[in-house]
Amino acid sequence: MEKNEDFTLIEYDKSLRPKRLKDYIGQNDIKEMLNIYIKTALKREETLDHVLLYGPPGLGKTTLANIIANEMGANWHSVTAPSLDRVGDLAAILSSLDAGDVLFIDEIHRLPKVIEEVLYSAMEDYSIDIIVGKDTTASTIKIDLPPFTLIGATTRCGDISAPLRDRFGIVQQLDYYNDEDLQQIVKRTSNVFNYAIDDESSLEIARRSRGTPRVANRLFRRVRDFAQFMDEKSAEIHLDVTKLSLQKLNIDTEGLNQTDYKYLKAIIERFNGGPVGLNALSASISEDPITLEDVYEPYLLQRGFIIRTPRGRMVTEKTYQHLGIDKK
Ligand code: ADE
Repeated sequence: MEKNEDFTLIEYDKSLRPKRLKDYIGQNDIKEMLNIYIKTALKREETLDHVLLYGPPGLGKTTLANIIANEMGANWHSVTAPSLDRVGDLAAILSSLDAGDVLFIDEIHRLPKVIEEVLYSAMEDYSIDIIVGKDTTASTIKIDLPPFTLIGATTRCGDISAPLRDRFGIVQQLDYYNDEDLQQIVKRTSNVFNYAIDDESSLEIARRSRGTPRVANRLFRRVRDFAQFMDEKSAEIHLDVTKLSLQKLNIDTEGLNQTDYKYLKAIIERFNGGPVGLNALSASISEDPITLEDVYEPYLLQRGFIIRTPRGRMVTEKTYQHLGIDKK
């Protein structure tokens, strides 16, 4: 972002991640529910119940968590679950919290079991039992915590144990954005970057963004690079440069990229359309199975390019048509 005399104001008002619920585009049902929970908790002067946000990557779980903290007027603390490998790490974070603070744990499905168990009592009773000393001298001490709000985020709700899931009073699933909402997000980003885009181009980027704001913002930045490279002065994005850049980026009209193509073509050409198990498929195209499952497949499933059966993944009629391949 360009420096400007009003830099701090721009940072505050127009940063890429919205800071308040009213500026968050899309996910209307979730916003409506969260608004009720936040307003009523504030009215009762209570701490907000623990919140679990889940859904595919890039949909704005962290942004939403941050907004919740802002709306509650709460301090923000953030960790990723894999970085917590000792109970002491969690105990140190929890005992540094003030009343009403928000603790955000990203990738909460990756919390080690021993840490998860400490979290149960922290969430339920605002206290933790810590074992000090070893063997015969070992004893437990109870640490009381202030009331706080835990916000967990995950792409894999199914990997969270039932006892942990049950301790979240508010559970919300984020879904892919529609084209209109993504177009608004692209326009907002264009405004933040002070680089204009016409309506056709913002819609074109939206359509090819896999329902995902993170992708839309990335594509906007790349298209802006092309636009700026081709025309230093105008600071505007039009449809011809948008289409050209997306073509150069190998993003097709449905938002599919080279990895999607590799994936779909492998099912068709090497596994006769499927069914094929995830591990066989990922080995055959040298991609990490977890990335395929978390990042690529949810969108391909949602758009009807693949189906999942008990025996594995299969492509659909739509895939043959879209790829221009005749079914054997
Ligand atoms: N930037 C990324 N996600 C957004 C959203 N949902 N609303 C507004 N701006 C965003």
